[in-house]
Amino acid sequence: MEEAKAKQIVESLREELNKYNYEYYVLDKPSVSDYEYDQKMQELIKLETEFPSLMTPDSPTQRVGGEPIDAFKKVQHDVPMLSLGNAFNEEDLKDFDRRVREGLGVDSITYVCELKIDGLAVSLRYEKGVFVQGATRGDGQIGEDITNNLKTIRSIPLRIDQSDTIEVRGEAFMPQRSFVKLNEEKEANGEEAFANPRNAAAGSLRQLDPKIAAKRSLDIFLYAVGRWEAGSLTSHSDRLTYLQKLGFKTNPEWRKCNGIEEVIEYVNSWVEKRPNLSYDIDGIVVKVDQLDYQEALGFTAKSPRWAIAYKFPAEEVITKLLDIELSVGRTGVVTPTALLEPVKVAGTTVQRASLHNEDLIREKDIRINDTVVIKKAGDIIPEVVRVVVENRTGKEEPFYMPSECPACGSELVRLEGEVALRCINPSCSAQLKEGLTHYVSRNAMNIDGLGEKVIEQLFDEKLIDKISDLYKLDKEELLKLDRMGEKSVDNLLAAIEASKDNSLERLLFGLGIRYVGSKAARTLAENFETMENLINASYEDYVAVNEIGEKMAESIVRYFEEEPVKELIAELETLGLNMEYKGPRKADQPTDSIFMGKTVVLTGKLEVLNRQEAKEKIEALGGKVTGSVSKKTDLLIAGEEAGSKLTKAQELNIEIWNEQQLREALEE
Ligand code: IVH
Repeated sequence: MEEAKAKQIVESLREELNKYNYEYYVLDKPSVSDYEYDQKMQELIKLETEFPSLMTPDSPTQRVGGEPIDAFKKVQHDVPMLSLGNAFNEEDLKDFDRRVREGLGVDSITYVCELKIDGLAVSLRYEKGVFVQGATRGDGQIGEDITNNLKTIRSIPLRIDQSDTIEVRGEAFMPQRSFVKLNEEKEANGEEAFANPRNAAAGSLRQLDPKIAAKRSLDIFLYAVGRWEAGSLTSHSDRLTYLQKLGFKTNPEWRKCNGIEEVIEYVNSWVEKRPNLSYDIDGIVVKVDQLDYQEALGFTAKSPRWAIAYKFPAEEVITKLLDIELSVGRTGVVTPTALLEPVKVAGTTVQRASLHNEDLIREKDIRINDTVVIKKAGDIIPEVVRVVVENRTGKEEPFYMPSECPACGSELVRLEGEVALRCINPSCSAQLKEGLTHYVSRNAMNIDGLGEKVIEQLFDEKLIDKISDLYKLDKEELLKLDRMGEKSVDNLLAAIEASKDNSLERLLFGLGIRYVGSKAARTLAENFETMENLINASYEDYVAVNEIGEKMAESIVRYFEEEPVKELIAELETLGLNMEYKGPRKADQPTDSIFMGKTVVLTGKLEVLNRQEAKEKIEALGGKVTGSVSKKTDLLIAGEEAGSKLTKAQELNIEIWNEQQLREALEE
């Protein structure tokens, strides 16, 4: 066959296959049999193999293309992917409505209500009609490039009829049926099952090999537009309709509601209908429909003011409280934990719930062998709500906190004004282990390969009992331990060695000074710059720092007065640990930069700088870079092909620079 002829056939096969795919996966209305579909697909594969020059990345044969990779690339979101504020009851919804109406100065608002799909947020970018990049939300600013995994979702079109660059957003999820099937397979293979469909979806999309994602039958509903320079629609509902017209799968249950009373009706109707769905939802998202209203309302630091997520009330279930276990934390607090007969709540199996302290146990009159009601607070943390007193048989036993530490046997004390019981023995083994685990943890010294288990092992083998011992570990000794090969020992020792160079705030946080969290540790390091300055500072010096309160200052003074603390710090210094702050110096931070306190928006293509670089530089000079133009914007940087943001900025009389002007200002 000639190539020109082949090209014709390839194109018509692709068109047909895309259509069948859309009918099957988006409309759920197949018009051909699986057999016919497979035949056409085979024919296309054959032609593409014979004429490799005809291959394109958006061909329907390329859904499971791509080789396994080592790690995901980072993707900067042009428009940040924010989260939503929460409403838990009618009152919260009415407050939201009041804020919206007052913010806009209008009487009644049209809202769009949508199901809140319990999956993970992703963004899909199309250039010249071709799906070119898919990313996770990440921290909202920077996500991960999971394009190849997203391509395996059959309801995502690889090609759309829209030539502008457009970025659409939605929720990827695993339908309940696929989830059950996947877990059955996992269990049959002796693998650990996923806790819920959301974890299964996230786990599948974070596979480095797209062939695994392809087997997981994921799906997606699109619900928003991120960047779309040439977009001219004026309402969210029109956008949803348009997304559907472009061939995207949108959730059919969305409704326009006039006023908050209709929203409440919609919400209530779904409390009942929720169990009938074939996928999990965890609430209802309520959005102001008109886009110019959305724009006028703007955003808080974390979320839009024009939308809110109503969360369904936490599911409550009944189980049995089998026993109460005690654990000793880093600061010596002894915490009782309920051991429960395993029970499923809000998607995961729960078998433990913290009881916090003895007062709470008395207040709820919780006894061993009681039947109890459990829920997950915020749908995450298991909690004993109450005892089902009617179920008592007389075999229940009241629980009393011991007077001695369950780990070291020393007497427990109740400090003034506290409900907790504490072990105040500084060499209590449980506290030391917890303290070490905290020291190596991610926000503290961030020593890879030293999890709780390894710490426990090192501790029990008497290789460590205080922080400084970590830096004296011996390779030969480590090799004698269970599950410790040459490679893991080398990695571990290298990670410990590398931690010596950490900036001061990590060490400060790692030491575990009471009330000094990671943020306060940074503030202290930034202000005092060296460990020596910190140790020599007085109570007055500490409280003079903004953000350091009296309670924290007192605790720091007391900490540095301790003889063992002084010895520990001296020893760490001798062992070669860095005792200085390495971040940007307070004194060096610009005060009179042209960007100080300014809100800047970047739009269009930058030729020389890349967008991330530009953003970082502006922020380093005290500016704030945001994604959308509003009255609060001070400056717009317009690159090539800038679109609606430029028009908007012109309308609002906002200062506009080109890239050249930006570069000059940055150089200054
Ligand atoms: S709109 C700027 N609509 O809920 C707000 N989000 O807490 C953009 N979600 O991160 C979100 N279904 O992962 C929106 N119909 C829906 C949604 C939805 C699920 C998730 C999404 C988002 C989180 C917000």
